[in-house]
Amino acid sequence: MRGLKDKNVLVTGASSGIGKAIATRFAAEGAHVAVNYYKGEEEANDTIKQMRAASLAAGIAAGSLKDMTVQGDVSKEEDVSTMFEQVISTFGGLDILINNAGMQIQGASHEIPLAQFDKMIDINMRGAFLCARKAIAHFLTCGGGIIVNDSSVHELIPRPEYVGYTMSKSGLRGMTRTLALEYARDNIRINSFAPGATLTPINPWKDDPQRKADIESHIPMGRSGTPEEMAAVAAFLASDDAAYITGQTLFVDGGLTLFPSFRTPWTG
Ligand code: NAI
Ligand code: BGC
Repeated sequence: MRGLKDKNVLVTGASSGIGKAIATRFAAEGAHVAVNYYKGEEEANDTIKQMRAASLAAGIAAGSLKDMTVQGDVSKEEDVSTMFEQVISTFGGLDILINNAGMQIQGASHEIPLAQFDKMIDINMRGAFLCARKAIAHFLTCGGGIIVNDSSVHELIPRPEYVGYTMSKSGLRGMTRTLALEYARDNIRINSFAPGATLTPINPWKDDPQRKADIESHIPMGRSGTPEEMAAVAAFLASDDAAYITGQTLFVDGGLTLFPSFRTPWTG
């Protein structure tokens, strides 16, 4: 994809799932990637291993790309500050932020412990904002930059027992649109991609064939998405091929947001 080669990229929550696939895709595109992880240094190192293999397979000479792991909880301001300092000083700058870190907890809305609700808001929404404002402050000093947020179909569609999650992701939509407008004249583009059901550890049902089949029966395309399919869209939004796109959410969901229950025409 155009414009990713030699760019410095920070991917939050890149030790597993979609974040890992995004880090790998960017390395294959010739970018220098910082792998943020919260817990699990070993998994973050595994992402680096996967990135190196992918860049090699893409014909990029071994050792020619910079990479690093960086620990930090995106919901903690001090961690985010330290993380940005480390990445910017190690790479000599930052061009692209991928706000991917996230989590979800299910629970009846009138019963879910407030601490769990707060955690989803703090990580998924506030954490993305903490990282976005640090990135923007840096971009303003160096002529621009790009932010891509990992949202969810639930920024649009409600889901019972996911009130904190849906609120955090619809908040992310508001953040994307607001920041895109605010910084459009500063050569800063901000977009989101919104995955539907994707085969990652956040969805333990992926290893239960019966539950998986049930969930997939509600998806118009009849299957879950893969982390690599999400990574391709993140890369597109960060690339020069998306140079005139800002403030948008691109849904990557096999049709999940197309009112699946209307899939078959009414009869009679
Ligand atoms: P995952 O559980 O494999 O990855 C989540 C990542 O976020 C992990 O690496 C985790 O360590 C990290 N993380 C969690 N809390 C953190 C914190 N406080 N600081 C830094 N990192 C933290 O799940 P997946 O699916 O890869 O999730 C990535 C993003 O994709 C999330 O934002 C999620 O909401 C979103 N998403 C996932 C979908 C799916 O079906 N898998 C669908 C829609 C959105
Ligand atoms: C959630 C997944 C869910 C998908 C579709 C995502 O935001 O993280 O757990 O399968 O939406 O409902």
